[in-house]
Amino acid sequence: MEGSLKYLKGFGNEFASEDSRCTGALPDGQNTPQKCPYGLYAEQLSGTAFTAPRSVNRRTWFYRIKPSVCHGPYKSFGDSGLTHEFTKIDPNPLRWGAFDLPLSENVNFIQGMNTVCGAGNLNTRNGLAIHVYLCNSSMINSAFYNSDGDFLIVPQHGKIHITTEFGKMNVIPDEICVIQQGMKFSVNVEGTARGYILEVFDNHFELPNLGPIGANGLAEPRDFWTPVAVYDDRDVYYTIHTKYQGHLFSFNQNHSPFNVVAWRGNYVPYKYNLNKFMVINSVSVDHCDPSIFTVLTCPSSKSGTAIADFVVFPPRWSVQENTFRPPYYHRNCMSEFMGLIKGKYEAKDNGFQPGGASLHTIMTAHGPDFSCFERASNVQLKPEKIAEGTMAFMFESSLCMGLTRWAASSCKLDKDYYKCWDGLKKHFHQS
Ligand SMILES: [Fe+2]
Repeated sequence: MEGSLKYLKGFGNEFASEDSRCTGALPDGQNTPQKCPYGLYAEQLSGTAFTAPRSVNRRTWFYRIKPSVCHGPYKSFGDSGLTHEFTKIDPNPLRWGAFDLPLSENVNFIQGMNTVCGAGNLNTRNGLAIHVYLCNSSMINSAFYNSDGDFLIVPQHGKIHITTEFGKMNVIPDEICVIQQGMKFSVNVEGTARGYILEVFDNHFELPNLGPIGANGLAEPRDFWTPVAVYDDRDVYYTIHTKYQGHLFSFNQNHSPFNVVAWRGNYVPYKYNLNKFMVINSVSVDHCDPSIFTVLTCPSSKSGTAIADFVVFPPRWSVQENTFRPPYYHRNCMSEFMGLIKGKYEAKDNGFQPGGASLHTIMTAHGPDFSCFERASNVQLKPEKIAEGTMAFMFESSLCMGLTRWAASSCKLDKDYYKCWDGLKKHFHQS
C-alpha cells in the first residue's frame, strides 16, 4: 500500500468500489435505479461495442455528483506535440539519445507529450502511436482524456501522481500504467518527469495466451492494481482536454471531473510493477524469441499478430550452453521500438541511453553491436545474472511505422548509429 492510496487487485475482472465517506453509494443489484443513493447520477463508460462478445465486453458504471455532459463547447486547442502525421519515412536503423527534460519554463504532462512515430488511421481505429512525455509541472484544475485509443504509460524518470475518475495511482519508474480510451485523468509531478507512451487505436491490451507454458507465468493477473473510488466535490473552473483524431480540443466546466463517488465495472485503469514479471527462457541451448517477454498485447484481427506488444527485458539468469547468448542478428516483419528505463541493455555496449530510444522498422537488419559480439563470442559460458540494474523494453508492432517531423528533426537522432556494426569482420574459413 502506498501511503493513503488503495488499490483493487486483478486484471479484466468485474470490480466495484465506493468512497469510504459514502457507504452504500453503489446501487444494490441494478445499474440504473430510478434514483441513485446520495442523489448521484448514473453514467456508463463503454470500452467496447455494446454487442461485443461477453468475454471481451468492457464497460463501467459511474455514480457521480454531476454527469460528464455538463460542460461548455469543445474548442480547438491549437498546436501541440501530439500528432498523427507519421509522414517521415526512413528505413534506416534509428536511435535517439535521452530526450531533454524541460528546465526553465513550466511544462505539464499535456504540453510535454511529443509524438515520435506511428502507423495507421485514427478515424478508422486502426494503428498505433508512440509518444514521449517530458514535463516539470503539475496539471492544475485540468484533465485529459484520449478519444483515439488507449495509453500504456512507461515512466522512465520521476514519479507521476495520476488522478483518474476511478481513483488515484502513483506510478514510478519500473511500473507501468494503462489508461484506456475515454478515461479522464490528471498528472501531478514532483520535479521533472520523462517517460514513454504506447497508444493503440484498435483494441484494448490483454494478457498474452500462455500456450504450453501452462497456467502460470509471465505477468500474473493478481499483480495488476486498479485504483479505488475517491471523489472530489469542488465547484471550480476546470479545463478538460482531449486528443480527438490526433488533434487537441478542450472545453471548460464549473466542477471537478473527478466527482465519482462509486463505480462498478470491468473497464478500468490499472498499473503493474515490471519487477513482478516471471521471466521464462531457455535452460538448455538456443534462444526463445523475444515474444517470451511479452507483458501485454493488443491484438490485431490477424491471428497471433499484434497491433502492439509490450515486451520487457528484466534482470534474469542466462544459462544456455553452446549458444551465442545476446539477442541474435535478425530482420523482422514487425517494427521494433525500444526504450530503456535504467541500466545498460545487453545487446548494446554503447550509445543506447536511459530516456532515449531506438527504432528498427520492418525488415531493417539489426542486432548486437560490434563490441557486444566480440565479447559474447569469446566469453566462458557459465550461469550468469544478466541485465542487473537494467530495465529495457520494446513496443513491437506488425505495422510499418513512420516518424513525425519532431522525431526526424530531433537533435537527439544519432546520425552515426549504423557505425556500431562497422567493426564486424569476416571470420569465414573453409576448413
Ligand atoms: Fe529486434
